[in-house]
Amino acid sequence: MASLDTDRSNLIALLDFHVEAGVDVVLDETPHDRFAEVDLPPAVRETFGETRRDVLSAPRPELRREPLPSREAPPEPRPAAPRTFGSSASAKPEEAAIDARAKAAETKSLDELEALLRDFEGCGLRFTAKNLVFADGNPEARVMFVGEAPGADEDRVGKPFMGRSGQLLDRMMAAVGLDRTSSYIANIVPWRPPGNRNPTPQEVAICRPFIERQIALVNPAVLVCLGAPSTQTLTGTKDGILRARGRFFPYALPDGREIRALATLHPAYLLRQPVQKRLAWRDFRALRAALDAAT
Ligand code: URA
Repeated sequence: MASLDTDRSNLIALLDFHVEAGVDVVLDETPHDRFAEVDLPPAVRETFGETRRDVLSAPRPELRREPLPSREAPPEPRPAAPRTFGSSASAKPEEAAIDARAKAAETKSLDELEALLRDFEGCGLRFTAKNLVFADGNPEARVMFVGEAPGADEDRVGKPFMGRSGQLLDRMMAAVGLDRTSSYIANIVPWRPPGNRNPTPQEVAICRPFIERQIALVNPAVLVCLGAPSTQTLTGTKDGILRARGRFFPYALPDGREIRALATLHPAYLLRQPVQKRLAWRDFRALRAALDAAT
């Protein structure tokens, strides 16, 4: 028979395994076998069987390939999106995105926008995140950096770029005379996706009105898109980041003015591919030159 000590170390090993696998939130006290539920609509039961397990093991229809979300219209929902939790988050993503846009447009200051986000329940990520990760840095800054979504460190602290990527970003900024007192930093999605998965297109579409409003309220001279998701969401380009990086895209503010949006590599990518830092260095020198020219 296993000793108490063995049981304990097995349990710790199991918990570690779950955390490693990205299972880092507890949603209920007791497990539910959702595959065994028989609350399927009659038409589905007739076609596929009695239980969700039957339905999930049935041959899948071919997935549609959707275009990347455009700035104007939120994307259609795709099949097989992760589950969201909470009543409002179960509204259709298109409706949540429309609601987000209308509410964001009414905010007159960053404080109002942050307060709105604290109350906003249209995005399921807020129910699994520990904290809202709204921004760090100086709202009066002439440069604004936008990443993709917070990770575990940011979720714990409630500020963007707090972990290893953040430390690298700080060093990259310092190399061109910037720091968090002269820059403003935010993310496309202000809540951590569980297990550090990528935000879904629906989550990005719901959160996009908020980051767009945040950019308009900060009104920087130069916007820096860190990585492909930020670049594609904010500039509308479909190019991969290695093609887009180093380019300045026009970014239209709601009042019709244009600012420059520079695409560059995400610090997390640079941690994995340090040899590419030379490309980021080029981009940061271009950023410095753009800021100097804009004074
Ligand atoms: N990566 C991001 O895109 N944003 C953060 O805040 C941290 C890591």
